[in-house]
Amino acid sequence: MSDIAERLAELERLGLNRRLRLVSGPQGPTVLLDGKPVLLLCSNNYLGLADHPRVREAAAEAAMRWGAGAGASRLISGTMTVHRRLEEGLASFEGSQACLLFGSGYLANLGVISALAGPEDAVFSDELNHASIVDGCRLSRAEVIVYRHLDVEHLEWSMRRDRARRDGQRRRLIVTDSVFSMDGDVAPLAAIVEVARAHEARVAVDEAHAIGTVGPGGRGAIAEAGLEGEIDATIGTLGKALGSYGAYICADEEMTRYLINVARPLIFSTAPSPPAVAAALAALELLRERPHRVQRLRANARALRRALASEGFAVADDDMPIVPLVLGEERAAMDMCQAAIEGGVFAQAIRPPTVAAGTSRLRLAAMASHTAADMVKAASVLAAAARRLSLDPAAIGPPPGQPSSSDQRIDDHEDGEAAPHEVEVGSPAEPFDLERSMDGEHERAVAEPQHAPFDHERDGEFARAA
Ligand SMILES: Cc1ncc(COP(=O)(O)O)c(C=O)c1O
Repeated sequence: MSDIAERLAELERLGLNRRLRLVSGPQGPTVLLDGKPVLLLCSNNYLGLADHPRVREAAAEAAMRWGAGAGASRLISGTMTVHRRLEEGLASFEGSQACLLFGSGYLANLGVISALAGPEDAVFSDELNHASIVDGCRLSRAEVIVYRHLDVEHLEWSMRRDRARRDGQRRRLIVTDSVFSMDGDVAPLAAIVEVARAHEARVAVDEAHAIGTVGPGGRGAIAEAGLEGEIDATIGTLGKALGSYGAYICADEEMTRYLINVARPLIFSTAPSPPAVAAALAALELLRERPHRVQRLRANARALRRALASEGFAVADDDMPIVPLVLGEERAAMDMCQAAIEGGVFAQAIRPPTVAAGTSRLRLAAMASHTAADMVKAASVLAAAARRLSLDPAAIGPPPGQPSSSDQRIDDHEDGEAAPHEVEVGSPAEPFDLERSMDGEHERAVAEPQHAPFDHERDGEFARAA
């Protein structure tokens, strides 16, 4: 047996084997999944723009006008008029001085983190940040200090304890998702910015799941918190609410010029294709013209949550579009996913390393293109799936730390007001334990040996690319 076959067998044994499911047709509210019609409840096409006629037409026209591909990296011949147009549109939408397109959100995070932190520097990162942030930290070779999820006290304590404060030398970067991809909760951005100011750190915020879903006109969690102009680098993707493929970073002119010079995924990867860029431009126009789409998405999210709660799931009454249904063990999540598909609902099971061990889940995502009736049907299919597997829906709901329907019921009963979101806060006076075994990606990033330095090569490579 080859080492690869052994590894595959081990993944199978652990319930962690992955396979690609085939979806026919666009990412609409219903799709054909491996030939079977199902309600699609796990796509990030939040606003239904990936399959919107104007967005499709824009892509088709761009292919005729500018061709199918960009032909080279942004720094060679790859910056085309359509890229510039979208960058201007996004900068104006985000209220920032400048914007820079990247090939994907994954690449943007790799680029920005490795540009803002190097081997002498420190990155402070929420423990549930997306894998692309974890990999950006790895690429930077900075010291990575992982703070507890949403825990600003812990962040501040870690910054105070950081030795950079004593030598005053290294750069420090705080990086966080704004809306967390697998939990759907929101980072306390205002408090993070305050900590950053007090401790002379930069802040990068990944708005991948916030653009088009939260904030005024869908402008994201930064706008919602009134922090426009306060964040050093804002990362957004074109592949989720904006219905296309690619990503961007909004920042001031100086930061943008710096990223053009040092962000490796921008320098060493082909520019986004003109059809993808034009599609995102059309989606952005639609979002600006018709921001009520965001309301429709939020109304569907609320309808989904209420329908799930009325089926007995421990889901809180809210209008955030990402709804995690935590089942625990990998196999339980896979079985629930399969039973739901058989009932006509597609909600992919999410397992480690995407989420921590023991928190495998279905991660439901509402879309503006669903109907309220779709949401009711989805909840009833999921409840039937749980019953078929002898699972109690009341034991299925958000991850620990997030409010559930039972918190709301108790509180409504007591004083009629929803409970504030309580996060378990470890004593900030406790030593911060990087070896803590929470099975998250970050722990491994910290524990892994650093790669050998390669700065001398970088200079050579860079000279060639420029
Ligand atoms: C928070 C977050 N950041 C970045 C990405 C990567 O974006 P992209 O899909 O454009 O590579 C994702 C994708 O799932 C994400 O959830």
